[in-house]
Amino acid sequence: MTRKYRVGILGATGMVGQRFMQLLENHPQFEVTAVAASDRSQGKNYGDACTWRLGGEMPSAIRSLKVQAPAPPLDCDLVFSSLPGDIARETESSFASAGYPVISNSSAFRMDEDVPLLIPEVNHDHLGLLEKQRQRYPSGGYIVTNPNCSTIGLVIALAPLQNAFGVEAAIATTLQAVSGAGYPGVASLDILDNVLPYIGGEEEKIETETTKILGSLADGTIKSAPMKVSAQCHRVNVADGHLVAARVKLTRKAGIEDLRNALRTYRSLPQELGLHSAPQHPIVVRDEPDRPQPKYDRDAGAGMSVTIGRLLPDAVLDYRFVSLSHNTIRGAAGAAILNAELLIAKGYLK
Ligand SMILES: NC(=O)c1ccc[n+]([C@@H]2O[C@H](COP(=O)([O-])OP(=O)(O)OC[C@H]3O[C@@H](n4cnc5c(N)ncnc54)[C@H](OP(=O)(O)O)[C@@H]3O)[C@@H](O)[C@H]2O)c1
Repeated sequence: MTRKYRVGILGATGMVGQRFMQLLENHPQFEVTAVAASDRSQGKNYGDACTWRLGGEMPSAIRSLKVQAPAPPLDCDLVFSSLPGDIARETESSFASAGYPVISNSSAFRMDEDVPLLIPEVNHDHLGLLEKQRQRYPSGGYIVTNPNCSTIGLVIALAPLQNAFGVEAAIATTLQAVSGAGYPGVASLDILDNVLPYIGGEEEKIETETTKILGSLADGTIKSAPMKVSAQCHRVNVADGHLVAARVKLTRKAGIEDLRNALRTYRSLPQELGLHSAPQHPIVVRDEPDRPQPKYDRDAGAGMSVTIGRLLPDAVLDYRFVSLSHNTIRGAAGAAILNAELLIAKGYLK
């Protein structure tokens, strides 16, 4: 039997931390051996510190793990981080300095020049940036990040279009679930019977992350994709699942069936390698006029597929569509786990 990598979860008691626990239960390559959270939780057993807010039971194997401070050393080979952005930078850096691979969900390092902002299907070659990180972390530690939870649903839709036709511009309007704000997140009186047209920092994240991920790596540097991206973000009264209504302008002319085909047949390295968390179909195309819907489509491909519908010609740009992704699975914990599976397959995790 191959050995399992021992993982620590930073921010283990939060919305994303709990997803990690759920997705890592019975994972063939990882076992959770350390958990860390705020001083509110430290010193308690995970089972006492964490109020389980997902369906099903808290995995029994982690109940008795003692919650520690998020500081090295922890008893693990790598850490997954789901810490709040404001403390993630210092904490994640301290783990990388101490020699740990850090697979992070937080925004702290996403735009750093030497940090891969990774979607394994889209830009696995950006792992080449890790060579550059050796200068920053001579200990052998490093940081790999996954995108913002709305960016990922947009970029997975744009990637096959960019490959086949080129994308000159994309306009994205999001409708984002409340779980995206963590727990307890938005006050119920603010979100019931309401839509919030502001999510701090989110529009800038989508606009900058998209061009980095779709950019190209040459001479140890990412050259951002030469496309214009414009985003408007809204928080809506949905538990899980972020919708993005998108319009795209293509570089080369293409028929709608060409687009449908490019989306439907999109496959990439994670599918070829058969990575454990890779969905068979990264993109599911729905032809019904009223799909995708968060309630029915967020769990496609065990939460790792992006569902695209409403693909139509657009009178202002070339085409429009609606993309849906599960924000705490494909947009967070599942994304980070898939990144770690790719790191193993590529020999970056020893
Ligand atoms: N929710 C999503 O859909 C989503 C998607 C992508 C990325 N993210 C990112 O993932 C991170 C976590 O999000 P979340 O939704 O899981 O938030 P959350 O539910 O608020 O959980 C935050 C976690 O961080 C811990 N924490 C808070 N302050 C801390 C401190 N000072 N020191 C150590 N630990 C601390 C909390 O521990 P206690 O329980 O002890 O307070 C909890 O475990 C954020 O950076 C967020 O932007 C979230």
